[in-house]
Amino acid sequence: MAGINFRGDEKIWFDGKLIPFDEAKVHVLAHVIHYGSSIFEGARCYSTPKGPAIFRLEQHSKRIFNGCKIYRIDIPFTEKDVEQAMIDVVRENGFQSAYLRPIIFRGYGGLGVNPAGCPTHVVVAGCEMGDYLAGAANGVNVQVSTWTRMAPNTFPAMAKSGANYMNSQLIKMEALGNGFVEGIALDVFGYVCEGSGENIFLVHDGKLYTPPMGASILVGITRDSIITLAKDNGLEVIERNIAREELYIADEVFFTGSAAEVTPIVTIDRIQVGKGKPGPITSLLKEKFFNIIEGRADDKWAWLTYIH
Ligand SMILES: Cc1ncc(COP(=O)(O)O)c(C=O)c1O
Repeated sequence: MAGINFRGDEKIWFDGKLIPFDEAKVHVLAHVIHYGSSIFEGARCYSTPKGPAIFRLEQHSKRIFNGCKIYRIDIPFTEKDVEQAMIDVVRENGFQSAYLRPIIFRGYGGLGVNPAGCPTHVVVAGCEMGDYLAGAANGVNVQVSTWTRMAPNTFPAMAKSGANYMNSQLIKMEALGNGFVEGIALDVFGYVCEGSGENIFLVHDGKLYTPPMGASILVGITRDSIITLAKDNGLEVIERNIAREELYIADEVFFTGSAAEVTPIVTIDRIQVGKGKPGPITSLLKEKFFNIIEGRADDKWAWLTYIH
């Protein structure tokens, strides 16, 4: 089944201890429940010939800490503690491969908007997971969302905060309701931004294009990995604003994300992209990506952290 689904018997790391799934609870008056005050991550652990390995562990830990810095959330743990917690969740649950969800949030300490006095909690959960987007292997059908991504200086896009995902939910529910797998949102200026939980790339005349950091995107760790791999394979990568209509006339379009990995897009607003099937550059980058994360190719950028 596509999506992120827990079995319900996984052990969860909660403020420094691994506890049973059913005991990992928060109070209904926790600040996070009322005001969305959380910063979270999504990372993957892959099965390799040398055992399970977490992909870009340090970058995920760094990003959650950066998000907390933006939101002035004090964390009673270090980046290394969160990395170790992610490793422990994989090891203690006996996962070979997994999706990992660290989250740092404000608990109960008064119900005013001012979070001062609310304790910070740190949780890492994990579950086994397949494709995030249904039909990812053959390419997905998507729409351009009627919802716009947040404007600069409203919700900071570089912080992966729970509150940002209210906007993502609107994009996702609209797309599913219209029979699509995902939506592509534009930014407040009408340029292409990202999916509800993915960055986006276009291929045009052999070059790779992706929206820049300033276009209200989450600066994806998979995005960075794909840019690195593309350059390493001699492809030119251009980060610039992308007009909506460029989506329809691109040779190839694909999503990237920790959950979505590399997912080809075959139609947008029912207009066929390229030949209507995963294109050669998408397939090449996807293959290079999977060769590294599944331990078949040299991990020359040290992206994998082995559990054992
Ligand atoms: C809104 C949004 N954009 C982009 C991404 C891709 O980021 P990453 O590759 O770091 O998972 C995600 C996934 O977390 C996301 O939620």
